[in-house]
Amino acid sequence: MTEHDDIAEIRKLAGLATPMALRVAVTLGLPDRLRGDGATTEQVATESGVSPVALGLLLGHLATLGVVEHTPTGYRTTGYGTALCTDAGNGLTNFLHLDMAGGRAELAFTELLHSVTTGDGGYARRYGQDFWADLAGNPGLRASFDQQMTDRFRTQIPGIVAGYDWDRFPAIVDVGGGHGTLLAAILAAHPRLRGHLLDVDPTATEALRTFTTHDVGDRAQVTAGSFFDPLPAGADAYLLCDILHDWDDEHAHRILARCVEAVPRSGRVLVIEPVGGRHADTEFDLAMLVIFGGRERRVDEFRALAAAHGLVLDAVTDLTGQRCLLEFRRTG
Ligand SMILES: C[S@@+](CC[C@H](N)C(=O)[O-])C[C@H]1O[C@@H](n2cnc3c(N)ncnc32)[C@H](O)[C@@H]1O
Repeated sequence: MTEHDDIAEIRKLAGLATPMALRVAVTLGLPDRLRGDGATTEQVATESGVSPVALGLLLGHLATLGVVEHTPTGYRTTGYGTALCTDAGNGLTNFLHLDMAGGRAELAFTELLHSVTTGDGGYARRYGQDFWADLAGNPGLRASFDQQMTDRFRTQIPGIVAGYDWDRFPAIVDVGGGHGTLLAAILAAHPRLRGHLLDVDPTATEALRTFTTHDVGDRAQVTAGSFFDPLPAGADAYLLCDILHDWDDEHAHRILARCVEAVPRSGRVLVIEPVGGRHADTEFDLAMLVIFGGRERRVDEFRALAAAHGLVLDAVTDLTGQRCLLEFRRTG
């Protein structure tokens, strides 16, 4: 490799043109619109209400990426580009669409310098309020986030359900359980168990629908509320699945304190996450920082966090290639 090659490679890695072009293409729905025979630039510009000249520049760049290709009259989506269509079901639409939770959150990376300087998230600096407040004020964002959470777990849930002895816990509270797909799968696999999901509304209410669909509605309860407030007390296990990594240490301590307050002496606090140094990749780690001011903690960091609440780490179980379960019991 020559020095010239190195510079070209670094420019390619660092340039924002391609990441933004893909995001704008998805936001405008171009991969869907240009499917099949495609269309002319002018047609798409008129339908989308955008500048034909600027759209031509965008399509020209997308063609160099292989996402669209020239036709005699305009452009059409390639086979490769169909991965960006809304019905591809691969999570890319949410990740890239600028008006969906994932795509909007990714732009918090423009505040990475702030995050690295301060250790705080960049989302609030960019959007004027933190991620959760932003979702609370925008039902469309909220719905896209919940869908993203459900989609990301589709392939993980069987491993999580099969990889741990859930039958030990007759009553489980899923703290911040989202739409409830994980708890529903646990209950479906273990007919003796009862579950109680807590999340904010409207997500909590949607979870009721999930339990009914999975035919476990008679063993599942839902509470709409905050995990910074007292939790439903007395269950055998309090599950925090992908919760603590969304929060800085101060908030993580507050959530754990609520779990310890609610769990009986013989109960357990169960944390499922991609653990730093075991599963978490560096890109995702930075995303948790800029979006939430959180991070993928390492086992020792979890141990220290929990010790402050009289919790001791009993076992670490690998559930899937991406996540493991940390089981904590109370010391007193
Ligand atoms: C990353 S998602 C994980 C959802 C679910 N546990 C899963 O693994 O699919 C984080 C969840 O925390 C919930 N959450 C955020 N702030 C909350 C709060 N203050 N009280 C209760 N739930 C909250 C969100 O609504 C969201 O469902």
